[in-house]
Amino acid sequence: MTDPASRGSESVSAPVFEAVRANIAVRDFRDEPIEDEHLLRILEAARLCQSGKNLQPWYFIVVRNRMALVKLSEFMKGDIDEQRLQRAPLAIAIISDPTSEFHIVDAGRVIQNMTLVAWELGIGSTMISGLEPPNRDSSRDSIKRFLHVPENLNLVDLVVFGYRKRLRLVKQKRRKELEKLVYDEFFGNPLILKQPKT
Ligand SMILES: Cc1cc2nc3c(=O)[nH]c(=O)nc-3n(C[C@H](O)[C@H](O)[C@H](O)COP(=O)(O)O)c2cc1C
Repeated sequence: MTDPASRGSESVSAPVFEAVRANIAVRDFRDEPIEDEHLLRILEAARLCQSGKNLQPWYFIVVRNRMALVKLSEFMKGDIDEQRLQRAPLAIAIISDPTSEFHIVDAGRVIQNMTLVAWELGIGSTMISGLEPPNRDSSRDSIKRFLHVPENLNLVDLVVFGYRKRLRLVKQKRRKELEKLVYDEFFGNPLILKQPKT
């Protein structure tokens, strides 16, 4: 089978696929600030993201100040993510505007853009996502207040970023088999594809 990436005129490698394949949640970072150039690249990856009706229903708050990160972590007292926030050099709060009906899907896409581009720069990341009610409702409100997020906007998530300590290349990700996820034409009908020649 022709490598799909080689069909275009410009590229014979598949850097996006490789980033998708290699990217895993990183929770332990080098003790180094993120360079502005890299931060800008991550934010550009967010800005350029597609969104429903091109409404771009998002805002981002960059938190690098150690005291602020520690304060954020205090809103999660006792939670495993508390330490992740304390140690990370950078957290970005992802805010969505619920007046767009697509805001949650859009937020997911924007986070994926940011984390994949970060990965390419040697920067790992993970989401601190359990802010959903009912378990962490009060954390969400406290964090919103601390970050001055207007009432009408939605704090989707905090994403922590930092330079990876090492590149742990995962040969096999713990994921469901395609056969358990994909059907042909109707639900339950197995999709049969030719295997690539090895
Ligand atoms: C929507 C979402 C929410 C997540 N929330 C958390 C979280 O709150 N804390 C955490 O440590 N990891 C979180 N993760 C990371 C996942 O647990 C991780 O990606 C998953 O277990 C697969 O592991 P891998 O990335 O190492 O392959 C989240 C990932 C996603 C996509």
